[in-house]
Amino acid sequence: MNPHPLKTRDKLLFTPGPLTTSASVKQAMLHDAGSWHFEFNERVRWTREQLLAIADLSQADGWETVLLQGSGTNGVEAVFATCVPPHGKVCVLTNGAYGQRMVRMLQLLKIPHVVLNAKENELPDLSKLEQTLSADPDITHVAAVHCETTTGILNPIAEIGRLCRQHACLFVVDAMSSFGAIPIDFESAGVDFLISSANKCFEGVPGFCFVLARRETLLANEAHARSLSLNLADQLRGFERNGQFRFTPPTHALLAFEQALKEFLAEGGVTARYRRYQANHAALVAGMKQLGYKPYLPPEIQSCIITAFHCPADQRFHFAEFYQRLSQKGFIIYPGKLTDAETFRVGSIGHLFEADMLALLKAVAAVQTEMHFDGDLHPAPNEMPARFQTVPLFL
Ligand SMILES: Cc1ncc(COP(=O)(O)O)c(C=O)c1O
Repeated sequence: MNPHPLKTRDKLLFTPGPLTTSASVKQAMLHDAGSWHFEFNERVRWTREQLLAIADLSQADGWETVLLQGSGTNGVEAVFATCVPPHGKVCVLTNGAYGQRMVRMLQLLKIPHVVLNAKENELPDLSKLEQTLSADPDITHVAAVHCETTTGILNPIAEIGRLCRQHACLFVVDAMSSFGAIPIDFESAGVDFLISSANKCFEGVPGFCFVLARRETLLANEAHARSLSLNLADQLRGFERNGQFRFTPPTHALLAFEQALKEFLAEGGVTARYRRYQANHAALVAGMKQLGYKPYLPPEIQSCIITAFHCPADQRFHFAEFYQRLSQKGFIIYPGKLTDAETFRVGSIGHLFEADMLALLKAVAAVQTEMHFDGDLHPAPNEMPARFQTVPLFL
């Protein structure tokens, strides 16, 4: 066994979570924490408070953060299981796998719902949403994904939220892969429930998710909760009662998250993280285009979180081999998840910087040479921003 595990460099994860974390975040987990102990409870309290402050919200204004064990999916399902009343009905906007996952949850929870489906490369049709909400007064909630990580498309939550308000519907936002990096104005977007997780833009490790919502809204349907472990109202009551998680907390993930939050704040919060991810994304897209790869989405609806690229049409390209060769060089990318196109994805989030993106591009160029395939864009456009042009990207 390696006696100095933190001295070796892990492969870089260009994935949307779990993602590459700093050495100090990993280091923070090398401690044991008693889940009932007051020191740990204080860390939980601080974490809940900080997440609200980052969203420009506060307990004084009636808002709460509920931390919940498990992955992000648990958080989304917990909102539906706890906060939709028995007579409720949810309108789900989908343009990718995570919107579809919400639909599946509602089916299993037997909650009435309607689905407004858009193509994976298109924004939701807001006039259709308006018509649907006008025609169906039974709809109590609208649910949407902010950054649909299937493609990286950024959905217009402020516009959707405005329609929710006009029709007195509560707005559920899955901001799993955007919260912490893409600014979200709760007030103007009319967000009632926001769900995110530890291992995305805050650059923590997997183990828990969290929901930001008004206390009153969280508790409104407490008597009708459809789940024990996913009961957000009960989870909130637990924190209020004794500062603790109701059931065994992910102690090490929380220690890591506390460190990740300190690093997030030291970096300059949402503004700085957004800037870094935008720079990562710009370097990635410019370099990939130079190598002949075509992004799946047009730039105006593409977020800086993750980018889907078309697999090259060249018969000599095989994703499995491409992936394997990049992995051997220390770079982990992500397969595609689209129903209508062959793609692969590259994330720009995590403890990654422009230099890491340039190193990945260099590895992609090398693999392309090894596999003897060409990209689709010929001639490759010279869209490389001036400041990257002097960097010797390609082998
Ligand atoms: C937008 C979005 N929603 C939900 C999820 C599900 O999160 P998890 O895999 O942590 O359950 C993800 C995961 O990447 C996501 O990106």
